[in-house]
Amino acid sequence: MNKKALIVYYSRTGNTKKVAEELGEILGCDVEEVIDYSDRKGTKGYIKSAVDAIKKTKTKISTPKFNPEKHDIIIIATPVWASTMANAIRTYIMKYRYKFSKVAFLTTQGSSISEKAFTEIKELCQKEPISTCAISTKEIKQGLYQEKLNNFASEIK
Ligand SMILES: Cc1cc2nc3c(=O)[nH]c(=O)nc-3n(C[C@H](O)[C@H](O)[C@H](O)COP(=O)(O)O)c2cc1C
Repeated sequence: MNKKALIVYYSRTGNTKKVAEELGEILGCDVEEVIDYSDRKGTKGYIKSAVDAIKKTKTKISTPKFNPEKHDIIIIATPVWASTMANAIRTYIMKYRYKFSKVAFLTTQGSSISEKAFTEIKELCQKEPISTCAISTKEIKQGLYQEKLNNFASEIK
């Protein structure tokens, strides 16, 4: 690929991780997992995550391994929580957005659309994405997202 890409993802239950890592293989690029140090396990963690997403709070995240400034494009990958991004991704963007060059967005979610989430990520990054890709949990379960992911990858290359 011509551009140097970095995929930055957060995943609570593995869906976004699976898709982000597959995209990393297709693009042959750097992949950064953002760890959220808040306890988000189980039902309590689910409720806390929904409340945090609605409140748009920041959370304590891991120190990144990669410098986004050294990449031509940052691909932000997040699960949709309460129609917006997960708080770990919100925190990452707020901390490092001044280092972003081009951006693209990838979401996983229960429903088939995530327009509101894309709008919020775009506003937070203060950048128009070169491409977006929304993959539903149903598509992940049935393994029916390869074409979407390949199309997204070719728009990034
Ligand atoms: C707190 C919370 C809120 C969620 N809100 C939405 C939502 O508003 N819309 C939606 O389609 N899916 C929603 N979901 C479902 C997740 O987006 C979906 O399961 C996603 O693939 C999880 O990704 P992960 O396995 O990488 O954590 C929500 C999940 C959680 C935990």
